[in-house]
Amino acid sequence: MITANEYKARRRELMSMMAANSIAVITAAPEKIRSRDTHYPYKQATSFSYLCGFAEPESVLVLLPGREQGECLLFCREKDKLREIWDGYRSGPEAAVVDYLVDDAFPIGDIDEILPGVLEGRERVYYAIGKDPDFDRHLMSWINDIRDQKDRGSAPPGEFVDLDHLVNEMRLIKTAAELKLMRKAGEISARAHCRAMRISVPGIYEYQLQAEIEHEFMVSGASAPAYTSIVGGGKNGCVLHYIENRKRVNDGDLVLIDAGCEYNNYAADITRTFPVNGKFSAEQAAIYDIVLQAQSEAIAKIVPGAPYNVANDATVAVITQGLRDLGLLDGEVAELIETEAYREFYMHSSGHWLGMDVHDVGDYKIENQWRVYEPGMVVTVEPGIYISPDNTAVAEKWRGMAVRIEDDIAVTKTGHEDLTSGVPKTRGDIELLMAS
Ligand code: GLY
Ligand code: MN
Ligand code: MN
Repeated sequence: MITANEYKARRRELMSMMAANSIAVITAAPEKIRSRDTHYPYKQATSFSYLCGFAEPESVLVLLPGREQGECLLFCREKDKLREIWDGYRSGPEAAVVDYLVDDAFPIGDIDEILPGVLEGRERVYYAIGKDPDFDRHLMSWINDIRDQKDRGSAPPGEFVDLDHLVNEMRLIKTAAELKLMRKAGEISARAHCRAMRISVPGIYEYQLQAEIEHEFMVSGASAPAYTSIVGGGKNGCVLHYIENRKRVNDGDLVLIDAGCEYNNYAADITRTFPVNGKFSAEQAAIYDIVLQAQSEAIAKIVPGAPYNVANDATVAVITQGLRDLGLLDGEVAELIETEAYREFYMHSSGHWLGMDVHDVGDYKIENQWRVYEPGMVVTVEPGIYISPDNTAVAEKWRGMAVRIEDDIAVTKTGHEDLTSGVPKTRGDIELLMAS
């Protein structure tokens, strides 16, 4: 769990990076209607959550570094007996001050009265402009209110600065408490993949494997899948974000499962590919071993100080060499890399930052140079080979085959830690588990 004190320390750190005489305004995510009276499950905006842990919609966090009457204000819904009977408990401002260690909290309905007063005299506003058009309009109307009173000595802010940049850099480096949650998300997700492997038999439906995976997430205390689970049998694995999950998996086919849970706001992201009948064919083994070698070589390169792209470069080198050795690519390896010939079979990059979001925040380059790995960063390593069912340029035995292997790697002081090592990935270990 992230303690109220850790959230408070995050707000302090953010305020220490803000310019003198500035204000930050951070909004909660809106609720979204799914159809008529049903809503999508509510998901708090991750950066709002990162700064205060407050999980309710219709909330606004305001940071005012140096303000003597209180630097951190929260606007939230009031307690409401009737609404709480229908929609669930609300914190209310009084409890929010105690539970979330903000300096002051007010009903969200009072924001029009209070916010212009605290904006006035602040020169710079840190805000995620353009993400929430309704709130953008509100903010501009408060600023215009101050402008209208300028001849009476009011001073409107003159500068807007992107808030996300500062928060994203903080979110990129995980604290010990965050890593503990990510380790747990990884453990649960690994168990879920093992469960799917064990239950797998020819003729099983993709949604049945999805159900096994998500059952393990939920009984283990995860709040939800961190993204829509991808379960693709046979050629469906060639669709990178295949989420239909309705088809039967035939004997002799591989299944590609890309699924990870969200645990206390932190995501895991694992992919495993295995033969539905528990035994790799010769062709499946050949492709699988290339992807596995690409992944191991890439992971080995993830150490503090190494540039971000070492992992991707390693996967490209191994996959290109492997495809050439199998005759799926033709030519000199160096040239096949140079011309990106491998992209026909490996069309995505080797990974992304991972954290509160599955595709997490943080820049990959600084001043156009790949940034270097630092302790506390978490990155996925997920090479794959996808041979289109329509690729008539390759022998028929290869067509429609898809393999991806994905794990979550945390950079440590001395190297890295695999957060998702609980699910097997060598062919031998997978076959052993599936036979048990
Ligand atoms: N699950 C989406 C991805 O691997 O990036
Ligand atoms: Mn994934
Ligand atoms: Mn991923």
